[in-house]
Amino acid sequence: MSPHAIDDGMLQHQRGSVPIMQNTFTDPNEFHDLEDDDFFGIKNRSHLRYTHENEIHDMVCVGFGPASLAIAVALHDALDGTDPSLDIPGLNDRTPKVAFLEKQNQFAWHAGMLLPGARMQITFMKDMATLRNPRSQFTFLNYLFKHDRLVEFMNLNTFLPSRIEYEDYMRWCAGWFEDSVHYGQEVVKITPEKSASGSGAITTFNVLSRDVATGQLHSRRTKHVVIAPGGRPNIPKPFPADHPKIIHSSQFQHISTKVLKDPQYPYRVAVVGNGQSAAEIFDFLHSNYPNSRTCLLVKQSTLRPSDDSPFVNEIFNPGRVDSTFSRAPTLRTSSIKEDRNTNYGVVRLNLLEKLYETLYTQRIRFGNSAEAEEQWPHRILPHRTVTEVQKSPVIKDGIRLRIRDQSPLYLSSAPNAQEQYEERDVDAVFVATGYHRDLHETLLKEARNLMPSGELQDAKWEVQRDYRIQFADRKVSEDAGVWLQGCCESTHGLSDTLLSILATRGGQIVKSIFASRDWEGADGLGLREAA
Ligand SMILES: Cc1cc2nc3c(=O)[nH]c(=O)nc-3n(C[C@H](O)[C@H](O)[C@H](O)COP(=O)(O)OP(=O)(O)OC[C@H]3O[C@@H](n4cnc5c(N)ncnc54)[C@H](O)[C@@H]3O)c2cc1C
Ligand SMILES: NC(=O)c1ccc[n+]([C@@H]2O[C@H](COP(=O)([O-])OP(=O)(O)OC[C@H]3O[C@@H](n4cnc5c(N)ncnc54)[C@H](OP(=O)(O)O)[C@@H]3O)[C@@H](O)[C@H]2O)c1
Repeated sequence: MSPHAIDDGMLQHQRGSVPIMQNTFTDPNEFHDLEDDDFFGIKNRSHLRYTHENEIHDMVCVGFGPASLAIAVALHDALDGTDPSLDIPGLNDRTPKVAFLEKQNQFAWHAGMLLPGARMQITFMKDMATLRNPRSQFTFLNYLFKHDRLVEFMNLNTFLPSRIEYEDYMRWCAGWFEDSVHYGQEVVKITPEKSASGSGAITTFNVLSRDVATGQLHSRRTKHVVIAPGGRPNIPKPFPADHPKIIHSSQFQHISTKVLKDPQYPYRVAVVGNGQSAAEIFDFLHSNYPNSRTCLLVKQSTLRPSDDSPFVNEIFNPGRVDSTFSRAPTLRTSSIKEDRNTNYGVVRLNLLEKLYETLYTQRIRFGNSAEAEEQWPHRILPHRTVTEVQKSPVIKDGIRLRIRDQSPLYLSSAPNAQEQYEERDVDAVFVATGYHRDLHETLLKEARNLMPSGELQDAKWEVQRDYRIQFADRKVSEDAGVWLQGCCESTHGLSDTLLSILATRGGQIVKSIFASRDWEGADGLGLREAA
C-alpha cells in the first residue's frame, strides 16, 4: 500500500452514483489544495485524482469496462512506483489529469448475461494486474485476501471463478478510481482541435458526452483519448432492432423477466445463435421455466466446443501480439480465421455436455423416435436460418418466425431431399448473435479528414502496434493522439476483445501515452474559462 492510498476498513461515502469527492469540487481553482486527509472516510483511493471538466486533461478514456480499468490500474501502479516495468520519469513529478467516462450508472461487466452459475472462460491469473505486476494491489488473489476468502477459494480447486465473483472483483478494483470515473456519461463525439498558435497540427481532442439521466452535454478537452467501448449488439436482419420481445443476449437478464414474467407459464421461446451466450440462455430457460417450450436455432450443423487446449491457448499469450501484428496481412487474416473456434460461435465443453444430458433425458421422458423428438419441449435445431419475422396470428403479442430449414440436405436419407421452410410462433426471441466493435468509427466521424488516405468513403481507422491511431503525417501533434482498445482484433489478434492480455496491454498504453519523450503533461495548456 502506498503512503497516498487509503486502506480498507474506512467508510465509503457516495451520493448516488456520483462520488462525494466529485461533488465537492465546484470551484476548479480550489481542488488542487485538497489533501488526502480531506477525504477521510473514503476507502481504497487510488493515486488518480479528480480533474474538473474545464481543465485540459492528459487522458480521457471512453468507457470504463475491463480494458479501461486495466489502464487505470497500470497508471496507479506506475504512480505507486511498485511496478519496475512502469518506471516512467514523466510521472514522477505530477499526477496526470485523467477522466474515465462510462455510460452505465455504476461499474458492471456484461450484467445482462450474469446468469447464475456462469463461469469465467479464462484463468483468474489473467486479471487486471498479475501478468504485468503480480505484486500489485489489484490482483485477484489480493482481492480474495482483502475479502477474507483466499483459503476457501483455494478449496474450490479451480482457475475459473464464477462470473459473479469476477465482476465483484472488478467492481472492487473500479471502486479505487471513484475520483476519476464519471458514470452515466455516454460519449457521443470526439472532435480534433488545432492549437491557436504553432504548426497548425491537432494538439487536443474535445470529448463530448451526454449525461444519460439529464441529457445535458459535457465537453472535456484532452491531449490523449483512449476509446474502449467494447462491443455493441449485433442484431442481424431480418430481426427488428427495437422489438420489445426480440431481445439481444446482452439484455437477457435485464429484460427476460419482464417478457417471461411467470416461471410456471408454458411460454414458447426461440433462441438464435451457436455461441456461449446462446447456449447459456437456452440452458437457463430450460432450468428456470420448466413448462416452457424452447428451441435453439443454429445456422451451422451443430454446437461445437471452444478450443482452450494448452498449445492452442498460446495464441492468447501477451507476447503473441508482436508476431501477429508483424505478420503479413493475408497471413494474419487466415490465422485469425483458423483460430476463431477458440472464442466465436463456440461453447465450453462442460455446458455442451450438460445440454446433451438435458436432451437425452427427454428421450427417456418423451420417447426416442423422430416423431417423438418433434414433440420434445426443448430442441436444438441445426441448419436453421430465420428469414422473416412477423406478428403471430396465434400468440397474443407474439412473434411468427419463418425459418429456412436446410437440415434435409444434410440429414435426410431420402434421395433428392430439398430444403424447406417452417413457421414457429413464439412469445419471445433471444438473439445471441454476437457483437460489432466499431463504435470508434462513429465517434471519430469528425476526424476523418485526418486519415492517412484522405477522407475516402469506406476507409477504416488503422492503429500502430501500440494501439495509437495512424493519422496523416504531421496532422496531429506528437504529444496528442487517440488509442483504440478492443477493436483491433484484425491487427493484434484474437486476444484483443478478451481479458487475456489486459494487464500487460494496460501497461503498454500507459507507456505509450506517458513515457513518450514528448509528453509534457497538460499543465502548460491551463484552465479553460469556466462554462
Ligand atoms: C457475457 C460475456 C462474458 C464474457 N466472459 C469473458 C471471459 O470469461 N473471459 C474473457 O476473456 N472474455 C470474456 N468476454 C469478452 C469481453 O469482451 C471481455 O471480458 C471484456 O468485457 C472486454 O472489456 P472491454 O472493456 O474491452 O469491453 P466492455 O466490457 O464491453 O466494456 C466497455 C465499456 O464501455 C462502456 N461504453 C460503451 N460505449 C460507451 C460510450 N459511448 N460512452 C461511454 N461508455 C461507453 C460500456 O458501458 C462498457 O462498460 C465476455 C463477453 C461477454 C459478452
Ligand atoms: N460465461 C462466459 O464467460 C460467457 C458467456 C457468454 C459469452 N461469452 C463470451 O462473449 C463473447 C461473445 O460470445 P457470444 O456467444 O455472445 O457471440 P459469438 O461467439 O460471436 O456467437 C454469435 C453467433 O451467432 C451467429 N450468428 C450471427 N448472425 C446470425 C444469424 N443471422 N442467424 C443465426 N446465427 C447468427 C454467429 O455465427 P457466424 O459467425 O457464423 O455468423 C456466431 O456463431 C465470446 O468471447 C464469448 O466467449 C462468455
